[in-house]
Amino acid sequence: CPFSEFPDPFAAARAAEGIREIDDQGDPVKMVLGHRDVRKSAHDWRTFQSGAKPGRIVVPSEVNIRDIRQIPFETDPPEHTEYRALVEGWFRRPLTESYEAGLTNLINQELDRAISSGELEVVHDFALPLQSRALTLLLNCPLEEAEEWIGWGTHVFRSDDDPLDGDKANQLYDYLDAQIERASRDVENGEDIFAHLLRAEYRGRKLTHEEIKGVMILTFAGGRDTVINAVTNTLAYFAGHPEDLQKIREQPELSARAVEELVRYFAPLTHMGRVATSDAEVSGCPVAADSRISLCWASANRDPKVFEKPNEVDIERKANPHLSFGFGIHKCLGAPHARQVLKVLITALTQRVSSIQVTDHQDNIEQWGDFNRKVGFHRLQVKIS
Ligand code: HEM
Repeated sequence: CPFSEFPDPFAAARAAEGIREIDDQGDPVKMVLGHRDVRKSAHDWRTFQSGAKPGRIVVPSEVNIRDIRQIPFETDPPEHTEYRALVEGWFRRPLTESYEAGLTNLINQELDRAISSGELEVVHDFALPLQSRALTLLLNCPLEEAEEWIGWGTHVFRSDDDPLDGDKANQLYDYLDAQIERASRDVENGEDIFAHLLRAEYRGRKLTHEEIKGVMILTFAGGRDTVINAVTNTLAYFAGHPEDLQKIREQPELSARAVEELVRYFAPLTHMGRVATSDAEVSGCPVAADSRISLCWASANRDPKVFEKPNEVDIERKANPHLSFGFGIHKCLGAPHARQVLKVLITALTQRVSSIQVTDHQDNIEQWGDFNRKVGFHRLQVKIS
């Protein structure tokens, strides 16, 4: 099934040189491709920093459209450790039973809506509303808030014809300014993440407006197209592989492993950059001080030195040290939420859906130098019953 396959474009370069330079708006990026090298470089935050100029570690670079630092993502220790500690507990809330129950309720409703319409476009009519409504649970804010977020579309910094859309980013910034202002009127009793951040103490002082905004931009941007792609791709995968859905129906305890395997296979975030603080070497290749590398999670996940049959989905795969959520001190804070969304979705599919049929699709292909990588879909039309 062409729609349920996500080929690995990095295989030859990973085996041959392990690193490949691409151009990003005139600023070169050396993509690190092997699992071992990606882990090693991610671990070495002293040499490969995240706290460079805001926007520079992202590929494509956002330095021209953003000057607010994303927190804790664009910081290094010791600041990173202290910032991260302020939100770590909050981002673990998805592991509670009541959270899972709320998510189950919400996802069942989305699925029932999809089934009753019979035919739908998954990206915009299912994955985007599901992602936005699920995010209200993570931020602990009213469900109605999601309607505005749905209106922003699938990516906060990109529009259909512009991969770096500054106007669109401003829409998010204005929204966050208004929310911080609203929450600051009742800091003591507020129960959402804005109030939590307004109460937080960093190095004996309150967080600034700018810092709170930096945390929230990341929360909205990082958990958006990644979750939308993961949800859409999951539907596409099971449309092409009903036998795997049947297997989970018979053995529900497989769902957690299936989530890990699908996340490995899809790698919803292809790579993330770092800036070298000194001259260094990766995979035998020199990396000059102040130049950029990227840690290619997607390539590492298909490394045959680590994964047997890396291009096959094995929902029963046991050892699965995939890097889809990153590695080391910056590993994804939203992972418990993302994992719960996918687990609840798969369970709901086994209980409510007998058939998913893809009637039309348009792949979302990212281009990184010579590499063309399918990361998801622009459009996925399905019949669901
Ligand atoms: C970090 C992937 C969902 C918030 C990361 C990193 C990866 C990643 C690879 C590491 C970046 C680095 O090392 O530079 C994903 C994937 C997701 C997902 C594949 C969905 C399937 C989410 C969600 C949220 C989120 C739902 C929150 C709403 C964050 C934050 C960080 C992060 C705050 C930075 C942590 C730090 O710097 O300490 N994510 N993410 N992510 N992610 Fe996610």
